[in-house]
Amino acid sequence: MKKYPVWLDCDTGVDDAIALMALHALEEVELIGISAVCGNALLDDTFTNTHRVCGLIDANYPIFRGAEKPLFGEPHVSTLFHGSNGLGDVQLPIPESAVMHDTPAWEALHEAALVHPGELRLIAIGPLTNVAIALTKYPDLASLLHTILIMGGSASVGNVTPAAEFNIYVDPHAAQIVFKSGVPIVMCGLDVTLKAVLTPEDWDELAAIGSKAGRFTRNCLQQPWKMLSQMGFSGVPMHDSCPVLYLVHPELFTAEEAGVYVETHGTITQGKTVTDLYSDKQFDKKNATVVLDVERDRFIAILKDCISRLP
Ligand code: BDR
Ligand code: CA
Repeated sequence: MKKYPVWLDCDTGVDDAIALMALHALEEVELIGISAVCGNALLDDTFTNTHRVCGLIDANYPIFRGAEKPLFGEPHVSTLFHGSNGLGDVQLPIPESAVMHDTPAWEALHEAALVHPGELRLIAIGPLTNVAIALTKYPDLASLLHTILIMGGSASVGNVTPAAEFNIYVDPHAAQIVFKSGVPIVMCGLDVTLKAVLTPEDWDELAAIGSKAGRFTRNCLQQPWKMLSQMGFSGVPMHDSCPVLYLVHPELFTAEEAGVYVETHGTITQGKTVTDLYSDKQFDKKNATVVLDVERDRFIAILKDCISRLP
């Protein structure tokens, strides 16, 4: 079977953790390396959390530290959703075998792209700071990457503000660099990710398997569920698993080509991904595939199958 070479950039995070577990389980994927960025939690946590989750599922990938802050301004972490440690306050050990690489994330990503020219799929499920630094520092990177699949943005609602989605809001300047880079972009924004909901019945079923991955999935989701259950949600959106499953199962999703740019100066629209999907006036380029819908039941069935095959 031909495998897609993939690089994962993440801010691990409860839904990042689940996306990472899914990526590891997908037979169609060859995960080359992982980089951590500051986002849901500070970099020390997102970096060690990535090691913790890999340790949980006996996965051994090179993991690199990225940016400690957005390109401008200070970190904006998400304790309410992801708990004080980023993993919903579930305690996992850092595996003894963990190797703390010194190479910065952007250098490691560029090296991986040189080894897989035109083939590497970059899945970015946190703020886009590492990716923007890499594209700026290595001008050849844009033509080396096959695609950037992003969890971020929205053609409709926001979550962290009425206008903006978290990953774009916390570093809109980085996001703007990525959307203008010329690399083919798949944007899985809130339009689709809010529909990709894992329910309490789903996570109880996973926990009942008795595996570490199944129990962790249920346990880490209790923190976001405290908040979302009071907001009328039927479960927890698997935001970050959307670009992961889009890569292997695009047939589950509905998408449209659009022009997408980022508001970097707005007072109430900071970090909004402005798309021309619904306007008469169009941007000059269709620079992104904007994913708008998903067959929720099939998506969740595949996600559960991935997690159920892990230790
Ligand atoms: C995104 O923000 C983070 O809280 C999640 O990990 C996801 O990447 C959703 O807006
Ligand atoms: Ca994330």
